[in-house]
Amino acid sequence: MQIDTDVKPDHQTPVAASATNAQAAPHIFVVGNEKGGTGKSTTSMHLIAGFLANGHRVGSIDLDARQGTLTRYIENRRDFAEKNGIVLAMPDHHSVLNSRAQIKADAEAEEATAFDRTLRELADCEVIVIDTPGRDSHLSRLGHAHADTLITPINDSFVDLDVLATIDPDTLRVRRPSRYAESVFQEKMSRARRLGANRTFDWIVIRNRLSQLDSRNRKAMDSAISELSKRIGFRTAPGFSERVVFRELFLEGLTLLDLKSGGGPKLSMSHLAARQELRDLFSTIGLKELKI
Ligand SMILES: Nc1ncnc2c1ncn2[C@@H]1O[C@H](COP(=O)(O)OP(=O)(O)O)[C@@H](O)[C@H]1O
Ligand SMILES: [Mg+2]
Repeated sequence: MQIDTDVKPDHQTPVAASATNAQAAPHIFVVGNEKGGTGKSTTSMHLIAGFLANGHRVGSIDLDARQGTLTRYIENRRDFAEKNGIVLAMPDHHSVLNSRAQIKADAEAEEATAFDRTLRELADCEVIVIDTPGRDSHLSRLGHAHADTLITPINDSFVDLDVLATIDPDTLRVRRPSRYAESVFQEKMSRARRLGANRTFDWIVIRNRLSQLDSRNRKAMDSAISELSKRIGFRTAPGFSERVVFRELFLEGLTLLDLKSGGGPKLSMSHLAARQELRDLFSTIGLKELKI
């Protein structure tokens, strides 16, 4: 396998560009990782809320409709706003279901049609956030193929890093990129074929559930991720610490950005620190002034 390490992302300040040009195509953020439980849906919801808070028209697509975490998150948000008589900004949300067709080619054609139709329905949005399942599937690959920015959250552990690369246990050096990294590379090639050789997508890896205590693991992860990012062409964002608030907010459909809007848990020091981590993520994406 050959991985292009010299890729220069051409979408570093995407949203600013879309926001200044009403006719621009939506900027598509795909949140993907071939592993469950790494924070994809939580990150998707916080991206959506951040862009909404900044006044962007936001579309969202749940490609993991079977689990439906993002869809449920958004339903919870609508219910919470109604119940409390408050206004919460909402995305234009869609789910794309897996086809039930028996023949693979039919199923894939049906899924491609449904996905394209959904993208057309969201054509007047400035930003589209796509949440994907934690496994390889045709729908997930379709989503990845449309990314302008791919965001990959990984839990801060070598178990999760294994989805991106095989690590030598003695030296903690990268032995070789793994299956998901290879499939992202294939998507980069497919993008180049569709749009031209010098167009690709920006890939950002975010470390999630960072522990303040485990500094040995953290340092080892720092160095492995830094080496890997050079080899397989991703950027890194500072990431999110392990915080109970992420689990608490789901039932009310709220995000760290909504806490001042009333209802839900009150703002604590931990929430403020988490919001700073979110600002740092948006800054990495290219949105410098998150209005929260
Ligand atoms: N930074 C975090 N701190 C604590 N819990 C988190 C954090 N990020 C995600 N979680 C929790 O981890 C679980 C998996 O997150 P989820 O976003 O559903 O992952 P995925 O979509 O990748 O399967 C959920 O219970 C979520 O609330
Ligand atoms: Mg999910």
